Amino acid sequence: MEKYPLISFKNVSYRYESDGETPLPLALKSVNIDINKGEFVAVLGHNGSGKSTLAKLSNAIIVPESGKVFVKGMDTSCEDSEYDIRQTVGVVFQNPDNQIVATIVEEDVAFGPENLGIEPAEIRKRVDSALKAVGMYEYRHHEPHKLSGGQKQRVAIAGIMAMETECIVLDEPTAMLDPKGREEVMAAMEKLNKEMGITVVLITHYMDEAVKADRVIVMDSGSVVLDGTPREVFSQEKIIEEAGLELPDCSKLALAMRKNGIDFPLGILTPEEFIEAFKMCVSGGRQ
Ligand SMILES: Nc1ncnc2c1ncn2[C@@H]1O[C@H](COP(=O)(O)OP(=O)(O)OP(=O)(O)O)[C@@H](O)[C@H]1O
Ligand SMILES: [Mg+2]
Repeated sequence: MEKYPLISFKNVSYRYESDGETPLPLALKSVNIDINKGEFVAVLGHNGSGKSTLAKLSNAIIVPESGKVFVKGMDTSCEDSEYDIRQTVGVVFQNPDNQIVATIVEEDVAFGPENLGIEPAEIRKRVDSALKAVGMYEYRHHEPHKLSGGQKQRVAIAGIMAMETECIVLDEPTAMLDPKGREEVMAAMEKLNKEMGITVVLITHYMDEAVKADRVIVMDSGSVVLDGTPREVFSQEKIIEEAGLELPDCSKLALAMRKNGIDFPLGILTPEEFIEAFKMCVSGGRQ
């Protein structure tokens, strides 16, 4: 697939409006990021580092104080492009309560594609397949406000999936889910990316989710401090720690092994890699 930037942050700074006289500090400071078509990007950062601000800037919910955000070359600060931008980049927010618009689950999921003027038969197909992908198909006739937080979040994700935007930005979509719900949503995101070629930007607090991405961006105090493959990023133990984050569990365990004099390779990220390294270790390097 040809690589080109779908979302481009060019020297973007953003400041929220202050209630009082004193202006608030910048929430984002001179951020430069290109999200390329087809990528699966994870964005990490401690509370208040600017992740949600980045999500809101990516589909013109807010516009930069200085610098520019381009979506497929369209300037997000140009109001005429808003409709085309929202048709290209869909955002799922942290709190599902603000995202429910209808009184029946399947109507809620259909709302986005209906607004895009998609044919009813196609909408039906998309709604069913999106609800199945997030494991909420059997709830299609339920009332969304009576669902649990995690279930609501999955309905919100299905709503964005049904729009089939080229890019989906998810702001901590699994924060309210139990481990099974998290796994289902992650699997749906991976499928969307790998099978349908949809660009996915996943804002997350979970290192084990970030490990599955093609690329990891780490934010700290409104700036990008790391941007690379999971292996490149998680080899920067010191910067990760300074950014208030931890390494993935298996990386921590592998480092602990090394610190205890066990001959373990660097760069372990996943349970599979850990098991491989462990097998090599116990066999003394013999296969
Ligand atoms: N509506 C707002 N008004 C004023 N300041 C805000 C507003 N929203 C966010 N901020 C501030 O902007 C900065 C970045 O916030 P942002 O919500 O982007 O962080 P985040 O990385 O998403 O954090 P979290 O992990 O808690 O979701 C923080 O200092 C925050 O206090
Ligand atoms: Mg946030």
